[in-house]
Amino acid sequence: MASGSAAAAPAPAVVAVTVAAALLLALCGSTEAHTQLGAYNKTCPQAEDIVFKEMTAAVAKSPGLAGSLLRLFSVDCFVGGCEGSILLDSTASNTAEKDSPLNKGLRGYDVVDAIKAKLEAACPGVVSCADVLALAARDSVRITKGPYIPIPTGREDGNRSSAADVAPNTPKPDASVADLIAFFGKFNLTAKDLAVLSGAHTIGRAHCSAFSSRIYNFTASNNVSDPTLDANYTASLRGRCAAGDLTTLVDLDPSSGTTFDLGYYRGVAASRGLLSTDGALLLNEDTSAYVMRQGNATATAEFFADFAASFVNMSKIGALTHHKGQIRRHCSAVNPPSASSLAPVTMGAHAAVLLASSLVSIVALALVL
Ligand code: HEM
Ligand SMILES: *[C@@H]1O[C@H](CO)[C@@H](O)[C@H](O)[C@H]1NC(C)=O
Ligand SMILES: *[C@@H]1O[C@H](CO)[C@@H](O)[C@H](O)[C@H]1NC(C)=O
Ligand SMILES: *[C@@H]1O[C@H](CO)[C@@H](O)[C@H](O)[C@H]1NC(C)=O
Ligand SMILES: *[C@@H]1O[C@H](CO)[C@@H](O)[C@H](O)[C@H]1NC(C)=O
Ligand SMILES: *[C@@H]1O[C@H](CO)[C@@H](O)[C@H](O)[C@H]1NC(C)=O
Ligand SMILES: *[C@@H]1O[C@H](CO)[C@@H](O)[C@H](O)[C@H]1NC(C)=O
Ligand SMILES: *[C@@H]1O[C@H](CO)[C@@H](O)[C@H](O)[C@H]1NC(C)=O
Ligand SMILES: *[C@@H]1O[C@H](CO)[C@@H](O)[C@H](O)[C@H]1NC(C)=O
Repeated sequence: MASGSAAAAPAPAVVAVTVAAALLLALCGSTEAHTQLGAYNKTCPQAEDIVFKEMTAAVAKSPGLAGSLLRLFSVDCFVGGCEGSILLDSTASNTAEKDSPLNKGLRGYDVVDAIKAKLEAACPGVVSCADVLALAARDSVRITKGPYIPIPTGREDGNRSSAADVAPNTPKPDASVADLIAFFGKFNLTAKDLAVLSGAHTIGRAHCSAFSSRIYNFTASNNVSDPTLDANYTASLRGRCAAGDLTTLVDLDPSSGTTFDLGYYRGVAASRGLLSTDGALLLNEDTSAYVMRQGNATATAEFFADFAASFVNMSKIGALTHHKGQIRRHCSAVNPPSASSLAPVTMGAHAAVLLASSLVSIVALALVL
């Protein structure tokens, strides 16, 4: 290229690049940011089957994992949105959410890693860790005989995970029902959503330490229990949990802890809600009416339909889409810079053609110049 034309050359090239960039921006912006049913239909059609198969095997081996995966997802959603931040490990310069003392009891990370490994083998770089959590949680419900919940996918993974974010986004163990309703309200979830989603405690377990103050230490003086707890239940809990026990796990639903059913509501209605926040549902007119109705119900249909709707709403909290996040290769770490900038994207045929044609015009221009 002659030195004389060098000064003029950048102009058309800059124009071409600008046009291509504008096209790209328009493409990203033209699609409303949302998740959708079957986001992996084309890019990884077997994704949801792989998650279900892995979850089924994991829960068959260790039934307690269903509750653990369901809880993992809700904690992810309430702290910074459903963007997989709970899965990130701490680094030399950052203490991650999972290392907050409040999250020490979370379990099931190894199951997430195993599912993700299968997905990476089948469709490398396509399915986000945030979606693995969402699908695993939905399958926890299905596998324990709860409803099958069709759940929108297409979440991307975030790269912020700070232990400091956990406390402000976690209800206190002694939260009042007003506190809980206000907490849910921050995510546009209602008192009804609170009553419905608390029904997740129909599966899974809690550490004795999560309720020991109710059975041993309800007032400042020792050996006083929460008078709102059924006395027989208190006695049986004292039998399970010695004072100061930090390891024993107790079913949240004393009647059927591995089945997704109405047992939780029957228990709460009969003053056998394990956590203080479960019992608190009886102290608000709306949440109490829901607990009583489901506690007396003979069929699961209403609870199941409600749970599916509230669960889908919860699953949309702070979801990242359209390249605001990345598709992590490993759920425990953000991608290295090179990989993250090249993360494969789900692109419509229309978008692909436009992008290809703008690339062709850049190359053509470059050749001409
Ligand atoms: C109302 C706010 C909530 C509070 C205060 C709360 C609190 C807790 C606590 C303290 C535990 C016991 C943790 C432990 O000791 O290891 C627990 C367990 C659990 N939570 Fe919640 N939770 C709430 C909402 C939810 C929601 C919305 C879901 C899911 C939709 C959920 C699902 C679970 C499950 C399945 C477990 C059992 C975990 C396991 O077995 O590993 N919770 N929750
Ligand atoms: C994926 O397939 C399901 C079932 O056929 C359909 O309901 C859904 O709309 C599809 N989603 C996309 C994004 O193609
Ligand atoms: C809640 O809804 C309002 C009004 O639709 C909206 O502006 C706000 O962003 C929502 N908040 C969350 C956390 O989704
Ligand atoms: C604590 O209270 C229970 C039931 O009220 C009683 O049986 C037990 O002896 C008490 N234990 C102590 C150490 O006071
Ligand atoms: C508590 O246990 C006693 C003795 O086993 C029994 O008679 C009583 O009906 C029980 N009370 C409740 C509320 O379950
Ligand atoms: C109860 O609380 C007191 C004071 O907060 C504490 O010293 C004691 O160890 C607690 N006991 C149990 C069983 O948690
Ligand atoms: C549920 O049943 C209890 C008695 O088992 C009764 O007192 C209560 O009124 C019933 N609630 C509803 C909403 O049917
Ligand atoms: C879910 O969110 C939508 C949109 O904000 C709302 O119209 C609907 O009532 C919510 N459903 C439940 C069960 O909270
Ligand atoms: C975090 O994600 C944002 C948005 O995808 C990106 O701009 C930023 O470079 C990422 N930071 C790191 C350290 O990966």
